[in-house]
Amino acid sequence: MHTRRIGEVEVSAIGLGAMPMSIEGRPDEARSLATLRAALDAGVTLIDTADAYHRDADEVGHNETLIAKALAAHDRGGDVLVATKGGHLRPGDGSWTLDGSPGHLRRACEESLRRLGVEAIGLYQFHRPDPRVPYAESVGAVRELLDEGKIRMAGVSNADPEQIRQADEILGGRLVSVQNQFSPAFRSSEPELELCDALGIAFLPWSPFGGISRAAGLGSAYAPFARIAETHGVSPHRVCLAWMLARSPVVVPIPGASRPESVRDSAGAADLVLTADEVAELDAA
Ligand SMILES: NC(=O)c1ccc[n+]([C@@H]2O[C@H](COP(=O)([O-])OP(=O)(O)OC[C@H]3O[C@@H](n4cnc5c(N)ncnc54)[C@H](OP(=O)(O)O)[C@@H]3O)[C@@H](O)[C@H]2O)c1
Repeated sequence: MHTRRIGEVEVSAIGLGAMPMSIEGRPDEARSLATLRAALDAGVTLIDTADAYHRDADEVGHNETLIAKALAAHDRGGDVLVATKGGHLRPGDGSWTLDGSPGHLRRACEESLRRLGVEAIGLYQFHRPDPRVPYAESVGAVRELLDEGKIRMAGVSNADPEQIRQADEILGGRLVSVQNQFSPAFRSSEPELELCDALGIAFLPWSPFGGISRAAGLGSAYAPFARIAETHGVSPHRVCLAWMLARSPVVVPIPGASRPESVRDSAGAADLVLTADEVAELDAA
């Protein structure tokens, strides 16, 4: 598969978002492991996760544990950059709460290290700004983890342009990635994408198909994608990802999946080249 860069690490141009395999509506473990295996077989070397990707209150890190198991069972498991996150909590009632305090982030990172069974986390992302904690304090905790070697690279998620600049400054120019919501139907992260392009920071669009519940049918925003998909004889999902890749060399999409078929189809986007006219049409759609 074609590759892109996150910091100094080369990763597959299409990653895998592992969230659907651990939250509400998740499949059984056998199907999840088959999905992760399919990703590795297809050459995916970037897997996005979070300690908060779980369903019940007593299974924090469900997704990280699943990934660790899949990587240990695959001969190319060691080639994968696991990008996890800290700063969200799931009390078990379906909600997502926040704790961006330095103490929580430190403890969360230690727990993620243990579950992933590594000495240092490949990419650790501050999941979401916590309005009760100054942003500089949360990112400052991530900087300490970086300085101590507990994480190899640092990223942020759900950040606006000002927070991206602030995070990069606090991290001493070592911010390697920004993960924000971006899809044909949700384009309000354009300024963050453009800033990442200018700064050479990887931009990881989350929910590229509008999220788990909408991904199967896609929405009306995807109609132009479906039309172009027909001319190429591929899925609209693949066209969507190829369009994102064409937006900037810093883009590395992380489509979610809970079926091997989804992973295989999405991985094919790395080889799909759209014409300049097609990209312009989708930009304007
Ligand atoms: N940082 C954040 O705050 C944040 C928030 C949300 C998500 N994320 C990350 O972003 C990742 C992606 O977002 P998401 O999972 O919410 O939504 P998504 O990627 O928009 O949609 C996921 C769904 O798309 C389906 N799908 C994937 N590839 C497909 C294909 N080629 N053809 C047809 N269907 C396909 C999958 O179906 P099947 O399940 O049937 O395979 C999956 O359930 C997450 O997994 C997570 O890692 C981060």
